[in-house]
Amino acid sequence: MNKYIGIDLGTSSVKILLVDTEGAIIKTVSREYPIFYPQSGWSEQNPIDWYNSTIDGLKELLNDVELDTVKGISFGGQMHGLVILDENDEVIRPAILWNDGRTAKQTAYLNEVIGQDNLMDYTANIAFAGFTAPKILWVKENEPNNFARIRKIMLPKDYLAYRLSGTFATDYSDASGMLLLDVKNRCWSEKMCDICSVNIDTLPTLFESYEKIGTLLPEIASELGLGEITIAIGAGDNAGAAIGTGISKSGACNVSLGTSGTVFISQDHFVNNECGALHNFCHANGKYHLMGCILSAASCNKWWVEEILGSGDFRAEEDGLLSLVGENDVYFLPYLMGERTPHNDVDAKGAFIGMRPSTTRKEMTLAVLEGVAYALRDSLELAKSSGCKIDATKVCGGGAKSEVWRKILANVFGIPVIRPLIEEGPAYGGAILAMVADGAYKNVEEATDKLVKEKDITYPDTEITAKYEKKYQAFKKMYPALKNVYKET
Ligand code: XUL
Repeated sequence: MNKYIGIDLGTSSVKILLVDTEGAIIKTVSREYPIFYPQSGWSEQNPIDWYNSTIDGLKELLNDVELDTVKGISFGGQMHGLVILDENDEVIRPAILWNDGRTAKQTAYLNEVIGQDNLMDYTANIAFAGFTAPKILWVKENEPNNFARIRKIMLPKDYLAYRLSGTFATDYSDASGMLLLDVKNRCWSEKMCDICSVNIDTLPTLFESYEKIGTLLPEIASELGLGEITIAIGAGDNAGAAIGTGISKSGACNVSLGTSGTVFISQDHFVNNECGALHNFCHANGKYHLMGCILSAASCNKWWVEEILGSGDFRAEEDGLLSLVGENDVYFLPYLMGERTPHNDVDAKGAFIGMRPSTTRKEMTLAVLEGVAYALRDSLELAKSSGCKIDATKVCGGGAKSEVWRKILANVFGIPVIRPLIEEGPAYGGAILAMVADGAYKNVEEATDKLVKEKDITYPDTEITAKYEKKYQAFKKMYPALKNVYKET
């Protein structure tokens, strides 16, 4: 049976899946790479590390596989990161990532001087510090020599696609997060290019996520022992995860609990989401979606269990928590890297609230999981207030493995939480997009209808949901109360 490779270029690692056309995962490998925090609130990675780790991972993935059955590769990649290349295709500086908060000044310039109404008009979105356009302005202002050398601007997964295929390409879902795309009309915004002093020729060619952009370069194919392999451009990791969890129909929702946390709602048509608080982006199926993003989700739990508790044993830390769900009076604000949706505040930070001498380690662990769920509920509320009817949600990402977290989400949201059989959203979505690009399926819907299956459903409980409703109302008051303190600290 033919097989396809899905590559999830994540923030902590690259995860690579080999999937057959019936949807079964044949093999999984991953490789970690470093993330650098050169200053408080900054975050960078080296694109060469992404490429080397991917090639190394591909070698392990393919070492005991019938190579002539492997037909295509595609991607789900961390969004918004700025990768810039010079005239020799050398990386000019480390990539500035999606959760980097250095661009407060440039973001304020875009929102206040250019104006949110104009930004909405040009791109269907307002500016957030993590988006790509403010980063371009930051490089222009702070590293003029680097800025002058720019010949190509691309997103993280597009760097991999370029190195593997030689085609300078991106897709509409990922391009939406640059604040350079006219999302409604699916083309680059000349106005935004002018505002950011970007020559439109330095931007990649736009494709749908399921389109073939070329084939694996012959020298890499022979290094890996492969023949002519289709490369599809793939998607930003959230749109990729939505494909991997079967979120295509209008109103269908997926929550991702990865390094970031997102609430992703598929839309058949472009909707004018007037306040701009939710991202209004293209989907990987040729349509659109709304999305809220918190910058720290499973990363809060990782920080708490590894850095603070020093145990690293996630299962043991969650032991006994199921029966405490709904009973906790400790709160955690999960803003370790600042916050995107809904507060758009790079100064926001993490905080515990409500401890007494009797407070236990278990309660604080539970508070971390709950804090992430409350922060995601903020995005869900925004979606509901812009007219979306959300009856249930899928969940994916590392955090989806936790039964406690799924129970918290179901009760904080008050809707059933469905776990797909395969939780590797972006990588699985990448493999599906490669299948469509290679003709194994007619279109994305046909592929997801056949391949994406459910594992289990966690239903909300009326009593626990009522308790969480009260707690969520208390949580909502905490950020406004701390906003000025964050600024001063
Ligand atoms: C979405 C976002 C994050 C990254 C994580 O807007 O910034 O979800 O894509 O990889």
